[in-house]
Amino acid sequence: MSLTRLHIDTFRNIVSAQLVLGEGVNLIYGQNGSGKTSLLEAIYFLGMGRSFRSHLSQRVIQYNEEQLTLFAELNNGHQQKDKIGLRRLRNGDIQVKMNGEKVKRLSTLADSLPIQVITPESFSLLFEGPKSRRQFIDWGAFHTDPHFYQAWVNVRRILKQRNQLLKSEASYSGIQVWDKELVKYAQLVTQIRTQYIDSLNEQLKGIIEEFLPRIDVKVSFTRGWDSKTEYAQLLESQYQRDLSIGYTISGPHKADLRLRVGTMPVQDALSRGQLKLLVCALRIAQGKLLKQQINKSSIYLVDDLPSELDAQHRKLLLQQLHDTGAQVFVTAIEPAAIVDSLGTPVSKMFQVEHGCVTQIE
Ligand SMILES: Nc1ncnc2c1ncn2[C@@H]1O[C@H](COP(=O)(O)OP(=O)(O)OP(=O)(O)O)[C@@H](O)[C@H]1O
Ligand SMILES: [Mg+2]
Repeated sequence: MSLTRLHIDTFRNIVSAQLVLGEGVNLIYGQNGSGKTSLLEAIYFLGMGRSFRSHLSQRVIQYNEEQLTLFAELNNGHQQKDKIGLRRLRNGDIQVKMNGEKVKRLSTLADSLPIQVITPESFSLLFEGPKSRRQFIDWGAFHTDPHFYQAWVNVRRILKQRNQLLKSEASYSGIQVWDKELVKYAQLVTQIRTQYIDSLNEQLKGIIEEFLPRIDVKVSFTRGWDSKTEYAQLLESQYQRDLSIGYTISGPHKADLRLRVGTMPVQDALSRGQLKLLVCALRIAQGKLLKQQINKSSIYLVDDLPSELDAQHRKLLLQQLHDTGAQVFVTAIEPAAIVDSLGTPVSKMFQVEHGCVTQIE
């Protein structure tokens, strides 16, 4: 799966770009502020309907413009390529079409475009709260199990309902009806997540051996409530506590990943560069697993790769990315930093200057 064409209009400082993309590594280079990250962000926006830099989507629309449009052609292995178009208006409206038909759910886009982002900020995955780690787990759960998305939507819907009842001080018998449903979907979500992390760990071993040799990194999944207690039982026993604070304390919405070296959290045991390599290893493992499990290739957006990685590790990372068979978009200020590290020639090279993107032969 790869993007073959990309059209960008009035997205950040890119006024208009029509690009023919390569299957392997696409190198995007240019000076600070030229628009490299904006180009990656446009690809992400097309796949996710939002930015990876700002939670305010209207920020990506070019100043003084009312809308942005994105269009891409996607090679999905079939004879007929998929055509995806997205328009985002300043008033918040978003219109998405796939092969001429209106797309109602953004998850349809995400399903067609499994995107992985590696940026200098990515290692916040290891430092921030559990939300970003849950998103990491759920990226894989969503792409590898067709039942996950609906089960997770149900969990969130029921939790919202339950929390409203708790705030209105409902009796436990009023809440119990919801708990039955909640338990059913919570178990399914947890089962899919657990299986996913088990498979991911298998993939991860080999990659970590290359990236962080002789460091014994352990990744474990915590489901969001005490591992010895049934969820139904827990919901009942914690009802008074939930009631006093007005929301459901425990459950799959509190799931997390624990990453350790021996008994120490990775943040205390590894250097900044090593933490970045660990995040890269996690993301590469996801891409490899997706390919292995359902033969779907990911698209990697790698921003500012050289930062804090030495030449040897840069090379290792690029080779691993290349080996996943994925389409890769990598930015750099100087193209030599990437060209010299990549054992094979880059597929396509683009120079960005003041928002203008030119393909370099
Ligand atoms: N909504 C917008 N409309 C127009 N220009 C914008 C908008 N948002 C940001 N910009 C400008 O777009 C330019 C490109 O930013 P971008 O982050 O893509 O640069 P970059 O090439 O990645 O730079 P660096 O090498 O410093 O990371 C910046 O000068 C920024 O001020
Ligand atoms: Mg940038």
